[in-house]
Amino acid sequence: MSARITVLGSINLDFVASCETLPSPGETVTGATLARHPGGKGANQALAALRLGAKVTLIGRVGDDPFAGEALALLKAGGADLTHVAVDPKEPTAIALLAVARSGENQIVVASGANGAFSPDLLAGPISEALICQLEMPIETVTKAATEATGFVCLNLAPAYPVPDALLARADLIVVNEGEAATYGDRIHQAQGLVAITLGKRGAGLFKAGRQIAAATPPSVEVVDTTGAGDSFVAALTVALLEGQPPADALAFACATGALTCTVAGAQPSLPHRAAVEALMARA
Ligand code: RIB
Repeated sequence: MSARITVLGSINLDFVASCETLPSPGETVTGATLARHPGGKGANQALAALRLGAKVTLIGRVGDDPFAGEALALLKAGGADLTHVAVDPKEPTAIALLAVARSGENQIVVASGANGAFSPDLLAGPISEALICQLEMPIETVTKAATEATGFVCLNLAPAYPVPDALLARADLIVVNEGEAATYGDRIHQAQGLVAITLGKRGAGLFKAGRQIAAATPPSVEVVDTTGAGDSFVAALTVALLEGQPPADALAFACATGALTCTVAGAQPSLPHRAAVEALMARA
């Protein structure tokens, strides 16, 4: 049976400048090409889970502007439940400015708009399905949703931001990259649940109470753009664990999903469907 997941999270429209190398602080890089895609960590994780076979509801906010429809287009086309995406009367749809280098590395600046105005009182009530959340909206809202949720809670601590102990303690699964893991230190390992740390092309490790219980390396792929790889990893690991896959298998599935995401430009255009992930795993 399909996993049922609610994602509470950010909805952005990504403006992506593809350039030879990323600029250093104070440097100007010319000769880039520009594209725009639906993005935002919340929306990306929702679409990734949908494409991996879950039934998905997204809770979020957009502005009363033309960017909103563009930001939600792929989720709408994929059949996500968007009835809990509200229109903020004052704030614009969030915009993310990305620079992506030929190496696939990126830099991201987000103008948070409606995501940033999502205050806790705007939550409709406790969430009973499995919940995925990240930190591109106010921490008070994420904390309220997670601590009141009655099902499985996946907390993606991205981008790194100070979080209360109550939020960490509620998570059944915490997902961080290496940089975020260094920022949070031992705090994440004091949580009761699983902790996944992604390591880029070196794969990922899964920990329980500070002890590593699984490791996986991704299939080798040609990297075009790493944007969205962390988001698809979060969605894939959650979907696989909810399906009852053993932790090591779930981690391998998540690594393959993240790897495949790196082979196509753009956040949401690159999120793979389940059949493609399974085909890559079978070939590897
Ligand atoms: O994780 C990738 C996402 O981060 C992009 O889609 C961008 O919108 C930023 O939120």
